[in-house]
Amino acid sequence: MRIDIISIFPEFFGVLDISLLGKAREKGIIDLGVHNLRDFAHDRHRTVDDTPYGGGAGMVMKPEPWGEAFDEVLTDASSVVIFPSPAGERFTQATARELALEPHLVFGCGRYEGIDQRVIAHTSTRARVREVSLGDYVLNGGEVAVMAMIEAIGRLVPGVVGNPESLTEESHEDGLLEYPSYTKPGVWRDLEVPPVLLSGNHGAIAAWRHEQQLERTRRVRPDLLGE
Ligand code: ADE
Repeated sequence: MRIDIISIFPEFFGVLDISLLGKAREKGIIDLGVHNLRDFAHDRHRTVDDTPYGGGAGMVMKPEPWGEAFDEVLTDASSVVIFPSPAGERFTQATARELALEPHLVFGCGRYEGIDQRVIAHTSTRARVREVSLGDYVLNGGEVAVMAMIEAIGRLVPGVVGNPESLTEESHEDGLLEYPSYTKPGVWRDLEVPPVLLSGNHGAIAAWRHEQQLERTRRVRPDLLGE
């Protein structure tokens, strides 16, 4: 998979050198390009924003640098462009699963009050475009949201996570939150591991885990059960 990121803070993405995604890049499974939007602004101050038409607070990102950045990065019709935005569709595990199947993702990180909407309109004429929100809260810009999305998507790309079985027993994969996990020692600060997990009875363990998933989901995320 090829991933391109366009941002005025390319330094943000240095952390993608480490951990699982760093290894995936070393192995050649994920190929990452980070582009500084200011490299596509040609005035002396490398300006990327201006005041909003119609008035209002804050600044809006100008269309020209974005247009040039996409001219460089969008090389064929198979790309999906993702604009992180609190006004977008909700990013979920299902979104991550869909995007993990794509050969080329481009993330356009907005700052300030957002990007001139014509950038989204124009980019839609040459790629599939999605405006995606991480959740119902406002971040200062798209960078942190993109980092979260790349981590969620990247670990679903075949070969990135060593043991693919570990991907199936997680929160959100079956519509429920995951069951609680325990490891040695069997007793820690007077707290015992639930005895069923030591029973060796695989049927009983599976039933207990499912019950725990239901109980936890009902308690903290009843919306997932339609309740
Ligand atoms: N940019 C600012 N807030 C955001 C959010 N909640 N999700 C995605 N991108 C954002």
